[in-house]
Amino acid sequence: MSATDPPILLMAPLYPPTQAELESNHRVVRLWEAPDAQALLASLADECRAAVTHSGRGIDVATMQRLPRLELVANFGVGVDAIDVDWCRAHGVTVTNTPDVLTEDVADLALGLLLAAVRRIPQGDRFVREGRWLKSGMGLTQSLQQRKVGIVGLGRIGAAIARRCAAFNAEIGYFGPRRKAGVDHRYFDDLVALAQWADVLIAACPGGPATSKLVSRAALEALGPDGTFVNIARGSVVDQPALVELLASGRLGAAALDVFDDEPNVPAELFALDSVVLQPHQGSATHPTRTAMGRLVLDNVAAWAAGRRLPTPV
Ligand code: 8YV
Repeated sequence: MSATDPPILLMAPLYPPTQAELESNHRVVRLWEAPDAQALLASLADECRAAVTHSGRGIDVATMQRLPRLELVANFGVGVDAIDVDWCRAHGVTVTNTPDVLTEDVADLALGLLLAAVRRIPQGDRFVREGRWLKSGMGLTQSLQQRKVGIVGLGRIGAAIARRCAAFNAEIGYFGPRRKAGVDHRYFDDLVALAQWADVLIAACPGGPATSKLVSRAALEALGPDGTFVNIARGSVVDQPALVELLASGRLGAAALDVFDDEPNVPAELFALDSVVLQPHQGSATHPTRTAMGRLVLDNVAAWAAGRRLPTPV
């Protein structure tokens, strides 16, 4: 790497080992540190052909328009809902992401959240810590056994969740744009009907305009006072104000949420609710998975720089 190498625009800090390797292999310009972002973009316009970002940050069209020679946006994360992929396609910009390597960890967290919500594990932890067990037993909970689990989006992560739910003796149904070939689980072409059938609804679909508020107020009402909603997808896929309102009034039984609209802001009403389990967007946040995601980002950038075929274009 030399000072005359074409610069790579880094939109936001990455997993530190990935960022360190990227910065040792390429001339990287950190956008978030620039005192004047517009002036920085103007100074890069003639030479910057690649940008790196992560799913939480993405890259906006206005920024890409300032970089007319842009060829690559390498995303750290499988979800590309914060990148306008159609715009990129129309303007000759290739987007890469990090599929597969995070599937199992995200599915594990979905099951962890599901069990935590149904068996009230965090509530039990608080019960012991607060000395309440000394005065009485905690009381009984719902069971996951023989329950019906509805999965919204039976893609890679949804299918990994389904495999785990099957091991917990759950009956599985799913909603998606189309019935999956070779899948025996019950298919619903209507999400409200799936929610009506299910005891538990797990959102595992991509974010973005096509799935905005897909889990509607009507779906959450259909899930009902004995139902549990789990979200490891994106906050945008559920009607969040309706979710909060229905949980607060008991018209939805419980929820376990890893993702929210406008992270890291979480509606304060949720903090007061004993029926809710919260996580700070931790689905892929394990050392091995973040290392593997970083490896894919680095491999995509290296392949692009060498003019080779990209490992994981979107
Ligand atoms: C990460 C994610 O949390 O892969 C995704 O779509 O949301 C997550 O793996 C994210 O990339 C970090 O911003």
